[in-house]
Amino acid sequence: MSDLRRLERETLAAIETAADEPALEAVRVAALGKKGTISALLANLGKMSPDERKTQGARINALKDKVSAALAERRGALKTAALEHRLATETIDVTLPARTSPLDIGRVHPLSQVNDEIAAIFADLGFAIAEGPDIETDDYNFGKLNFPPEHPARDMHDTFFLAPDARGERKLLRTHTSPVQVRTMLRQKPPIRVICPGRAYRCDSDQTHTPMFHQVEGLVVDKQANLGQLKWTLSEFCKAFFEVCDVAMRFRPSYFPFTEPSMEVDIQCSRRSGEIRFGAGEDWLEILGCGMVHPNVLENCGLDPEVYQGFAWGIGIDRIAMLKYGMPDLRAFFEADIRWLRHYGFRPLDFPTLLAGLSS
Ligand code: DAH
Repeated sequence: MSDLRRLERETLAAIETAADEPALEAVRVAALGKKGTISALLANLGKMSPDERKTQGARINALKDKVSAALAERRGALKTAALEHRLATETIDVTLPARTSPLDIGRVHPLSQVNDEIAAIFADLGFAIAEGPDIETDDYNFGKLNFPPEHPARDMHDTFFLAPDARGERKLLRTHTSPVQVRTMLRQKPPIRVICPGRAYRCDSDQTHTPMFHQVEGLVVDKQANLGQLKWTLSEFCKAFFEVCDVAMRFRPSYFPFTEPSMEVDIQCSRRSGEIRFGAGEDWLEILGCGMVHPNVLENCGLDPEVYQGFAWGIGIDRIAMLKYGMPDLRAFFEADIRWLRHYGFRPLDFPTLLAGLSS
């Protein structure tokens, strides 16, 4: 066998058995590279006689073309094989569960939930939401609400006072949401139907009291507003909030400087093995304070008590949240313990509505 035939057979065999593209490249360099076997043969042509060059030149060039063609074919085959291998090994299993979304693990704090529930119930009754600042003036927190200076009722609120400002005015952290009543009446002419949810502050701390807590105030002012409407409103609220068909309520006389008459409201409940149920039973539980807006308050807020009447109430949101969802210690509300939140929290997209259900 001539040298050329052997070289051809060996080179083509090496091309055929090259396992991957780098191996194939090594074969190409060995044959056609600068110092490759076929390149060396071509370089040698110059030294031949013209006749020899003619025959040998044609044969070597034919070999070069054959090897080039075999290289190109093998390169194509290896590329396809490599792609197929990747496609086979890098498959994505689209049936695998997606990564847990924040919507699945995030939880809404029970207080936010209860706030939304209260807003949904009163929105249905035609109430708007009014807000006011946490830092209040003495006048809005006490004065306009008919707490005269030095009146002992001020002592019932363990007030956090701020340092006096340049003008000597001593602001405070509002001790209740009632100053929002004042702000609403000063800003808006009747008819008024608002609820005022928000934070309140008192220097107090135990299992059922924290220095910061939440209240929702209700206020209705119109030419006609009476106790019957107040009772109906509160009873509708309690039924909707506690998700029961009927609630028995008890109105006890009480005292607040800003209402006359003033009442505290208990709802009937049963307590069995630590669980409270509303709507029936032999026990009573106090849940809110209310009354007819005192004529002095209307007057202090620029409304003529001969023309307008109002009723109002104040509810501790934390307290009714504890009652509804069976949370025994108020302090846990503010500890930001993720385990507590996972247990008592609500799914973020389950907005409470009266139609779809408040808590389910
Ligand atoms: N502001 C009262 C408190 O924090 C609660 C309250 C009682 C509000 C009677 C009212 C009301 O609007 O009419 O103790």
